[in-house]
Formats: sequence, C-alpha cells, structure tokens
Amino acid sequence: MMFSFQTLLVLTYLSGTSFALPAVQIPLLNDALDPYASPRPRVTFSTDGSFKLLVFSDLHFGERDRGDEKDAQSVQLMTRILAEEQPDYVVINGDLLTGDDTFASNVTAVLDQIFAPLNAARVPFSSTHGNHDNHLNITHAQEIEYEQAAAPLSYTRASPGVGGQGGEGCYWVPVYKNADDEAPALVLWFFDSRGGISSSGEALADWVDESVAEWIARETEQMNDAWGPSEQRAALAFTHIPPHFALDLQANLNSTLEPGLNEDHMGPHGSTQSTPGNDAFISSLAHNVKNLHALVSGHDHGLEWCKRETTTGVVLCFNKHSGYGGYGQDWWGFGARIFQFAPDEVTRGVETWIRLEDGSVRAKVHLNSQYE
Ligand SMILES: *[C@@H]1O[C@H](CO)[C@@H](O)[C@H](O)[C@H]1NC(C)=O
Ligand SMILES: *[C@@H]1O[C@H](CO)[C@@H](O)[C@H](O)[C@H]1NC(C)=O
Ligand SMILES: *[C@@H]1O[C@H](CO)[C@@H](O)[C@H](O)[C@H]1NC(C)=O
Repeated sequence: MMFSFQTLLVLTYLSGTSFALPAVQIPLLNDALDPYASPRPRVTFSTDGSFKLLVFSDLHFGERDRGDEKDAQSVQLMTRILAEEQPDYVVINGDLLTGDDTFASNVTAVLDQIFAPLNAARVPFSSTHGNHDNHLNITHAQEIEYEQAAAPLSYTRASPGVGGQGGEGCYWVPVYKNADDEAPALVLWFFDSRGGISSSGEALADWVDESVAEWIARETEQMNDAWGPSEQRAALAFTHIPPHFALDLQANLNSTLEPGLNEDHMGPHGSTQSTPGNDAFISSLAHNVKNLHALVSGHDHGLEWCKRETTTGVVLCFNKHSGYGGYGQDWWGFGARIFQFAPDEVTRGVETWIRLEDGSVRAKVHLNSQYE
C-alpha cells in the first residue's frame, strides 16, 4: 500500500489567535480521503475528547417582505447561540435563502450576512441546500462556490457527476479525535435533496438522486480500505428535505418517547421526498455506514422530533427553524439543534436537543441502540 505525505499547517483559528503552529507530517493512505487543503485544517474533537455539533436550518434570508428586519434578527440569533454554545462544528441544513425573492445583483451580499457570524466565531461549518436555494437567480452549485470563496472555514463541497441537476452538494467531512490521527472517529455525510426550480424555470426533482446510493457504496469502500471497518467510526447525515419514510414515522409518533414540536402535517407530496422509491440512498446508507446515529432534516419548520425507522434502523431527527424568514408561528420559537458527543462514546451514542434563542432546552433524547 502506498503512503503519501501531506503537510498540514494547523492554524489556531478556534483559539482566536493567528500564529501558526509548526507544520506536522501526517501519513495519508489516499489523498481522496483527505479532501481539504490549507487553510482549512482537519476538523477535530474538542481537547477534552467531546464534540458538539450545532445545526442552524431554514434561515430563509433575503425575503421580499421585511427581509432586512428578519435577517437582522436571524444574525442576532446566530451570534448569540454561537457565543453561548461554543460548538466545535456547525451545519446549515438548507434553505439559506428564500431564492424566490433573490436578486442576482446582490445575492452575495445576502449570503455574506449568513457567513459573517460563522467567520467571526472561527468555527468550521458546512451547508446543505434546500428547495429555496434553487431558483431563477440562484443555484445550489453557485451557493457552494460562493461559500467556499467567502468562508475560510467552510467545508462544503460539490461532487461533480453525483446528485443530478440542482443536486451538486453531496459530500462528506471527516472529523478526527486528534489532528494527526490516521483515521477519523466520525464522518459527517451531506446529501443534496434538490427541489425548487432551475434558472430556466423548470421544476427540479425534490429528493436525493438515485446516483447517490451507488456513490455512498463507492466512497465507503475506499474509507474501509484505508481506515478500517466502518464499525470503528460513527456517522451523522444531513439532507434538507426529509426522506419519504418520515410520513410513516409521523403517523406513529409517541410524544413521550419522541418529544418535540409536531406542528407540520406532512403530505405525500411536496413535504417529503415524493415516493418510497426515492429513499434509495437510505438503504445504501443503512447498509454501508455503521453507527449512523441520525439522519437530520429541515424543511418542515414545525417539526422537532427524532424517531427510528424500523426496517432500515435509521433515526430521523428534525432541525429547529432558525431563521426569522420562512413560514411558521411565533410560538414555535427559533433556535438550533445540538448534538453532543461525550468523550469515548462516539460509536455508542449521542445526546441531542433543541436549544431556543433564549437558552431554554427541550426535546432532549439520547440516541443509542435503545432509542426507538
Ligand atoms: C432575478 O434577476 C433578474 C435580473 O437581474 C431580475 O429582473 C429579477 O427581478 C430577479 N428576481 C426574480 C425573483 O426573478
Ligand atoms: C437586494 O436588492 C433588492 C432590490 O433592489 C433590495 O430590495 C434588497 O434590499 C437588496 N438586499 C441587500 C442585502 O442589499
Ligand atoms: C408512549 O410511550 C410511553 C412510554 O413508553 C407509554 O407509557 C405510552 O403508553 C405510549 N403511548 C402510546 C399511545 O403508545
């Protein structure tokens, strides 16, 4: 087996100082499995061995109706939550913009407002994109390209040839316990559920493309060859529009076991990936990725619960609506979902809860083999 060596310059972004530590040599089994180059350092756990991931979702910046006012409130929410939670990683789980109202002339100025609090907090983050991020004046591919240029700690990528039209944002991010480890302890997967309309006005499919199932199999085979069996790692997965099986989960929800708001009533069309066949990527995920603690979706702003789908064993969790733009009721509140991995428990389980803007917490559950 060939080893190649890459110099990794570890910049101390997170500590807030700007000097560089001495470069360390890291043996790599395969360059494709270390997809980020300087200045983006490897994403790592906290020094105490824990890892806190925070999800903002459905920010809906740039709305025609009172957009400036709502965006200022959303920036304030992000700034406050980032300061108080000090996460190790942030995910923006789709619908960054209300693209239906976006102007080609200033869409980057709108995106800059979203990246500003993340850049200021020097926190690594990445995005999925939603049905409102594909519209006449904006596409997922354009948002990805701009984010990479405008945010030094963005880990968002596109995988050319995978995901179908408007679904370029399928990728994964390795998270290491220590920056010089040979293999990551956790892999974050991001699937692009497309939706919205193309720049010429045609409706785009609103589910994860079938090509993604095979891509998951190919990528995991390489990972297993280089890093050892999938059982040694944990995973979390993110996609904006929930899978079709979400409908059955909602029909059988028990609010004691699966707490959290349940205020959106998902229809068979529009609200979830349209037909059961569109969940092809789920079977591949369940088969190839071990210790997958949750698949996390947004899109339905009034849902917050987590529930396990029994045939595949995949737990679906909904985000918390974070943006003041987009539909919703004030009493639903605004906030973030948090995943907290305790030291040395990464493959066994993770705690997750909804944190509201005022600091209050609800719907706390421990996702492990016992969770239903
Ligand atoms: C999109 O861009 C065009 C040209 O800049 C503009 O005329 C239009 O108002 C924009 N917005 C929408 C929603 O199409
Ligand atoms: C973008 O342009 C539109 C139309 O001119 C304007 O209403 C909106 O406030 C602008 N947004 C920003 C962030 O500059
Ligand atoms: C919900 O779960 C709780 C706790 O296991 C149980 O006591 C209750 O009977 C369940 N409710 C329904 C409607 O199944």
